[in-house]
Amino acid sequence: MNFRAQVLACGGYLPERIVTNDELARTLDTTDAWIRQRTGIRQRHIAAEGELTSDLAVKAAERALAAAHLKGSDIDLLILATATPDNTFPATATKVQARIGMKGGAAFDVQAVCSGFIYALATANNFLRAGQAKRALVIGAETFSRILDWNDRGTCVLFGDGAGALVLEAKATNGHAGTGLHSNMERGVLSTHLHSDGCNYGILYVDGGPSLNGRSGYLRMEGKEVFRLAVERLAAVVDEALAANGLAATDIDWLVPHQANKRIIDGMGRRLGLPAEKVVVTIDRHANTSAASVPLALAEAAGDGRIQPGQLVLVEAMGGGITWGAGLLRW
Ligand code: UT7
Repeated sequence: MNFRAQVLACGGYLPERIVTNDELARTLDTTDAWIRQRTGIRQRHIAAEGELTSDLAVKAAERALAAAHLKGSDIDLLILATATPDNTFPATATKVQARIGMKGGAAFDVQAVCSGFIYALATANNFLRAGQAKRALVIGAETFSRILDWNDRGTCVLFGDGAGALVLEAKATNGHAGTGLHSNMERGVLSTHLHSDGCNYGILYVDGGPSLNGRSGYLRMEGKEVFRLAVERLAAVVDEALAANGLAATDIDWLVPHQANKRIIDGMGRRLGLPAEKVVVTIDRHANTSAASVPLALAEAAGDGRIQPGQLVLVEAMGGGITWGAGLLRW
């Protein structure tokens, strides 16, 4: 039998505390105007002291499960995308597994920084299509506030904390489980496309780690180079995803991009010829929440009724590694 991974529901969670650009400008040599113009960010949510990545992930997962009318015990695969786990080990996913009441199956973390959600989605999709799991929770959750150098204005203004989750279910299909012309109208994940290029390891990284120096470290980034590569690589992977399914940019109902910079998002929208109303934007309120940005944006746009069943949704992201990827979903 062939299976297709269909999205049943989404959920998102943002910590209560909101930090505006003006608040940052009180202690940092920056301005609200610079941050808005260069990035599109107005504010970000920051986790409370003692509020961990697992706490955000559990809240997003519980909301997604409630929306799907399911319990944790109905899930047999949990994949958590995060670059800010609670502990070096075990995987934060296992903590989330216990807290949502998921008794069996497998839970593990995926680490691809800002592309983490696309990597987790691709992994879950392949498990479900292979018949190795029935229902998956795919979560992106981050507390980047803990790995920011709050004296480095070039990075600390860009990120926020949050979590988003999707429940996916394996559905038997009428035939074509693979990508291709005959299957792009059937609901579910149509295809995912992952890439990495370790030659660019050093342009976006954290200067600590258990093996490196025993510290958790701080995020370091060559912003301009990351920006340039994001534009180039995302364009290529989006073309790859459309071509693999025999689809054109005009078929896209929603672009749900990683939220790193409004200028990158606008550039992709223009390249695809999409009007602004078809592009889901959260960066103004959430900033860059790394692996959480795409599932948070999906939860918002599905939750308020913008994304409707049967519509074509394009997701894409690029992050440290560098890693990048895209996915096409018939919602
Ligand atoms: O999610 C993973 C992927 N991440 C990304 O895709 C991020 C990609 N990169 C970017 O979004 C942009 O490169 C940034 C927003 C990080 C920076 O924007 P930029 O237009 O590339 O600015 P820049 O780094 O070239 O800096 C321009 C100027 C510099 O001053 P000088 O040298 O021209 O005097 C910076 O020192 O802006 C200065 N600057 C700031 N000024 C006020 C840098 N950060 C700030 C700041 N406030 N927060």
